[in-house]
Amino acid sequence: MPETKFEIVELKSGIKSLRLIDNQETFHPGIGPVAEARILHVEQQRLTERLKKSGRLVIWDVGLGAAANAVAALEALKDCAGQVEIHSFDKTLEPLQFGLQHTEHLDYLAPYAPVLSSLLQDGVVQVNPRIRWYLHLGDFREQMLKTDLPVPQAIFYDPYSPSANVEMWTLEHFKRLRQRLDGAPPCLLSNYTRSTLVRVTWLMAGFIVGVGTAIGDKEETTLASNSPVEIHRPLSREFLKKVYLSHASAPLRGQSYAIERISEEDFEVVQLSEQFRRAQICPSEAWNSQPIFSLWQPR
Ligand SMILES: C[S@@+](CC[C@H](N)C(=O)[O-])C[C@H]1O[C@@H](n2cnc3c(N)ncnc32)[C@H](O)[C@@H]1O
Repeated sequence: MPETKFEIVELKSGIKSLRLIDNQETFHPGIGPVAEARILHVEQQRLTERLKKSGRLVIWDVGLGAAANAVAALEALKDCAGQVEIHSFDKTLEPLQFGLQHTEHLDYLAPYAPVLSSLLQDGVVQVNPRIRWYLHLGDFREQMLKTDLPVPQAIFYDPYSPSANVEMWTLEHFKRLRQRLDGAPPCLLSNYTRSTLVRVTWLMAGFIVGVGTAIGDKEETTLASNSPVEIHRPLSREFLKKVYLSHASAPLRGQSYAIERISEEDFEVVQLSEQFRRAQICPSEAWNSQPIFSLWQPR
């Protein structure tokens, strides 16, 4: 019998979710799969409003897992006018297969079981006349470079956490992702993190970074974008002080999860990043309310 890699766990709320036994990471640890997916990805991405406005929406669902994020998007968009493409990425189908065997605990999956079977079998499924769902099996870092992949307006970024999955959180990777969005329409990336080092990494990669919604016990999460238009609460210059003082502000590079203070060179890159550079040329914008934080001082 193949070894079971996942288990069903009961959250504080009584709702059930999946956990990868290896790294002990629960898929939606706070308020449960569907509620978390809806608040974190669907509502704060304003998917229905943006679809209404543009008539077409491409979503990259990074880390399909047991499909809670994708299902939450389908639920929100299924009756909306406009064309939707969901592109789900994962390097393994095991969590989804495990989830489909445990729909008695993961009830959001049950109504989508036939659609998911087609997706698993054919790699694409027409969910309704307006929504097409694609599956890209493989490492997202390579899959995202495929030239026939349409650029997204929304990215649900949900691989495992930086400590458990360094490769998906490095500066090199996010620079490539940011380049992939160059010249593309505004795209919002949503994630559960509020970590200083992740925010630093995204700023250094050229994203505009903002405070995301509170969720469960967590006061804030994080949004990033290739455009300031979609970021309603951009990180202010106060954030630079936090970076400067933090013991865990250096971006991840290479293969190791090294928690360090940011270097002088990197700090300068953050100060000169798109976000804070914009502040100098757009004095009316909210994030320019403070004078520029003084350059590096030895600590
Ligand atoms: C926390 S789970 C995602 C939960 C999922 N979004 C859901 O709603 O159920 C993380 C997923 O990311 C996938 N993943 C991690 N690194 C990846 C990579 N480099 N490329 C593609 N998928 C990856 C894992 O295989 C796992 O299924």
